[in-house]
Amino acid sequence: MENVDKGYFTEENSAEVVNARMSPDTDPRLAQVMEVIVRKLHEAVKEIEPSQDEWMQAIRFLTRTGQKCDDWRQEYILLSDILGVSMLVDAINSRRPTRASENTVLGPFHLEDAPELPMGSNICLDGKGEPMYVHGRILDTQGNPVGGAKIDVWQANDEGFYDVQQKGIQPDFNLRGVFRTGDDGRYFFSAIKPRYYPIPADGPVGELLNAMGRQPNRPAHFQYIIEKGGYDRLTTHIFDPDDEFINSDAVFGVKESLMAEFKPVDDPQKAKEFGFEGRYYDVEHDFVLAKL
Ligand code: BEZ
Repeated sequence: MENVDKGYFTEENSAEVVNARMSPDTDPRLAQVMEVIVRKLHEAVKEIEPSQDEWMQAIRFLTRTGQKCDDWRQEYILLSDILGVSMLVDAINSRRPTRASENTVLGPFHLEDAPELPMGSNICLDGKGEPMYVHGRILDTQGNPVGGAKIDVWQANDEGFYDVQQKGIQPDFNLRGVFRTGDDGRYFFSAIKPRYYPIPADGPVGELLNAMGRQPNRPAHFQYIIEKGGYDRLTTHIFDPDDEFINSDAVFGVKESLMAEFKPVDDPQKAKEFGFEGRYYDVEHDFVLAKL
């Protein structure tokens, strides 16, 4: 009988000994996942060679991460976000033809029950912030308009907060709306120029970011879920390329294809058409849905 089969543990055979203990009746997917995790984890520990104190520090970090979780705060998701794992899982699960729009992170601020509004509505309910006209088309990969698509949009205000973070300060459903395209696939609505904002950085994940010399902000963006039967659901953002944090998003949500130009417009006549006064911003972006 080999040492591995006897269960004798050495520094060299550590992962093999642990994996050999798994029952052959283990669910095959669980067995595959655990074999890889044990192998890679042991590999990392062998490369790092942590002291006992360092290992305890890691355990205490994971304990505090769990203790920070409640119904409103999921510190483990945040950890996965800042390590790029959420974006990697999303990339693996949303591979699309090259012409289709790319996915990015959903984030914690989406609401299922945002109101459906007539196309062209203003989603800013408190009149604060610099006005912005947001428009474009929903297309298929052949360039044809997609009618009847549902566009669910939400954004932070000009101070970097979502309505759900400022209950009683912002009106409920401020800067959110659901729109449906007509046959021409066009969408258009009024909003405000969003601002960058920090992810929740007052917990262990924030401490880790700080210890690694990383900044906690996400660059200014609009968030979207775009759906239509027969097409892959698109969860995405459009980003302001001029934002100071565009190349250092704390959760790695930025992709080159998701940049949109946030253009200042000085045209009183056009401003009047959209119900704005003075200067406003304009952003045009087409979204391309992939067939299922
Ligand atoms: C966000 O999209 O706002 C977000 C994403 C991941 C973590 C925290 C916030």
